[in-house]
Amino acid sequence: MAAAALLRRSPAARALLSPALSSRLVASKPHSSSPAPPPPSSKPASTKTFSIYRWDPDSPSTKPHLKDYKVDLSDCGPMVLDALLKIKNEQDPSLTFRRSCREGICGSCAMNIDGDNGLACLTKISSEAAGASTISPLPHMFVVKDLVVDMTNFYNQYKSVEPWLKRKDPPAAGGKEIYQSKADRAKLDGMYECILCACCSTSCPSYWWNPEEYLGPAALLHANRWIQDSRDEFTKERLDSINDEFKLYRCHTIKNCTHACPKGLNPAKQIDTIKKLQLGA
Ligand code: SF4
Ligand code: SF4
Ligand code: FES
Repeated sequence: MAAAALLRRSPAARALLSPALSSRLVASKPHSSSPAPPPPSSKPASTKTFSIYRWDPDSPSTKPHLKDYKVDLSDCGPMVLDALLKIKNEQDPSLTFRRSCREGICGSCAMNIDGDNGLACLTKISSEAAGASTISPLPHMFVVKDLVVDMTNFYNQYKSVEPWLKRKDPPAAGGKEIYQSKADRAKLDGMYECILCACCSTSCPSYWWNPEEYLGPAALLHANRWIQDSRDEFTKERLDSINDEFKLYRCHTIKNCTHACPKGLNPAKQIDTIKKLQLGA
């Protein structure tokens, strides 16, 4: 883009130049060989309000609150993450949230959007322009700042189920592969896809009330992923380690977890499978 066109659009760029040079560049007409400026957007402007949870540990006297931001949807991508990035880039750089892949793979943009847990990058901006969208951190988690929550307990619970292959015999010399039939591999479908976003666990009332003692649907789904793995030789020990009134049996099959999972997984079903195995079924 020609410098003059950039300066006409950007007050911030103008501020970096001396007043004389800035006004000269802005006032000058584009050279006849300059590319034509892009046509104005033909989409009608439609503004939506996003009410976003704000809390800053560096300002402890300011209580957590919702702050409203207006976003022109005609100049914004379709997803909630697009709106958050637009707000951060154009209105308020202090707004804090996690994101990385922007395609539902990393699990880092999990938050509560209009009352439902989900991934901001996979959740479309609600077309109900009349109402504001409310965005808050995952429920019942300690907040680090704004939409960022402390995942330490969640990750420790995941670690506690020892989510790796365990064998009783030492590995064969030369690092030979341990084969698995296609049918055995298929038993892991519906579990290996989990991205550890915590949408399920933080939607579970049992997890809200016993977050330290109850493992929650995500960690239990991963426990079953290794219980079902035909190559693993610690199935009994894995079952014994979670056969506990709190770790496993706080699940009351309410199924909020399954409703919340943005990857379409069914943690409640995996928990049910573990309970049946505990009964020898
Ligand atoms: S089914 Fe179990 S894990 Fe899922 S929400 Fe209900 S109590 Fe929580
Ligand atoms: S089961 Fe679904 S909701 Fe739960 S952590 Fe995994 S991907 Fe997220
Ligand atoms: S940014 Fe990675 S899942 Fe949303």
